[in-house]
Amino acid sequence: MSLALYRKYRPKTFAEIIGQEHIVKTLTNALSSEMISHAYLFTGPRGCGKTTIARLLAKAANCETRKPNEFEPCNKCSSCIEINESRSIDLIEIDAASHRGIDDIREIRQGIKFAPTKSKYKIFIIDECHQLSKDAANALLKTLEEPPAHAIFILATTEIQKMIATILSRCQRFDFWNLTMPQIIQRLEFLSEKEKIKIEKPALELIALQARGSIRDAESLLDQVISFSSALDQKAEIKTQEIKDLLGIVDLSSVSQFVDFLVEKNISKTINYLQEILEKGKDPQEFTKTLISYLRQGLLLKISPDMQNHLSIGLTKEELQKLQNQANGFSEQELQKLLQLFLKAENQIKYSSIPQLPIELAIVEAIGLEKE
Ligand SMILES: Nc1ncnc2c1ncn2[C@@H]1O[C@H](COP(=O)(O)OP(=O)(O)OP(=O)(O)O)[C@@H](O)[C@H]1O
Ligand SMILES: [Mg+2]
Ligand SMILES: [Zn+2]
Repeated sequence: MSLALYRKYRPKTFAEIIGQEHIVKTLTNALSSEMISHAYLFTGPRGCGKTTIARLLAKAANCETRKPNEFEPCNKCSSCIEINESRSIDLIEIDAASHRGIDDIREIRQGIKFAPTKSKYKIFIIDECHQLSKDAANALLKTLEEPPAHAIFILATTEIQKMIATILSRCQRFDFWNLTMPQIIQRLEFLSEKEKIKIEKPALELIALQARGSIRDAESLLDQVISFSSALDQKAEIKTQEIKDLLGIVDLSSVSQFVDFLVEKNISKTINYLQEILEKGKDPQEFTKTLISYLRQGLLLKISPDMQNHLSIGLTKEELQKLQNQANGFSEQELQKLLQLFLKAENQIKYSSIPQLPIELAIVEAIGLEKE
């Protein structure tokens, strides 16, 4: 089986990292001047580079050929190669989601006393560190209070609010950001070129839109697309419509038609149309998600027409024009109310024995309300 894209093309140098400039700059400066901290905390949304940058930092810190004033790892020395192949004995990666207990941290505390086997530093990456048990977190804190000179800790978490303050205060903290649409598209273009896949730009934009800020999600969507296209004619360019079908993406035109019925305030037509969409195999959750982001764009357009450029990604000119017209049919308050109703429905779908019922209730309430 071929390697998943995110493993095959995991960036091997800082230069390959997209975005997160504020982090890359500080870390590469620290490396160049050999002012490396003993404890880092990386926090931010999923799939935006925390583990990748943690490994890069580890690799650069232990690179055998890196010269003073340089920061990139060489990727050629034995230490770099071992880290790239996940078999370095001086880089210990712990997944706190599955190793959350005091014994796991005790092991680290024992191990840390010994100098690194062959490298300059012994580096511990603790992923999902908010999942450590209370005892384990306290034991870790003790280590962070007086780490030996040869140790570097890199803690990573998606949920900073669950970390104890005493640990936070011991670490140099870096806040990772969600990647922007153009950044994700840039990465997707790079990968499809590497894989020699022809895919039209709007199709890439659609994938990027679906990924909602996570490069990893964008990459696994592209993975699905690639395995789908390899079953077809390799030379053919992949089209937007194929991506929509493949990923079960709810067509904007059906969402837009749905909103037309809402504007008409016709309860039965709207509910029947919803039924039609779901019968075609679309997922109620996906539908609501798309509807919400559509209505949100409508609201933002209404508040400020300048948002056009900013929002137009993912919408064609015609679709944008249509949305603009629909938004004109509602007051700001009405749009706001609609959004609240469908957001509520979105949350209820997973708990409802009839998945589409919350959407139907939202329709009845939305249109019923307006009639009053
Ligand atoms: N800033 C980035 N630049 C380039 N590629 C990236 C970036 N962020 C993520 N990637 C790609 O996504 C993959 C997953 O990223 P990574 O494992 O670093 O995410 P993470 O922030 O640790 O996510 P999680 O919180 O889910 O563990 C990487 O292998 C890489 O291919
Ligand atoms: Mg990670
Ligand atoms: Zn090296």
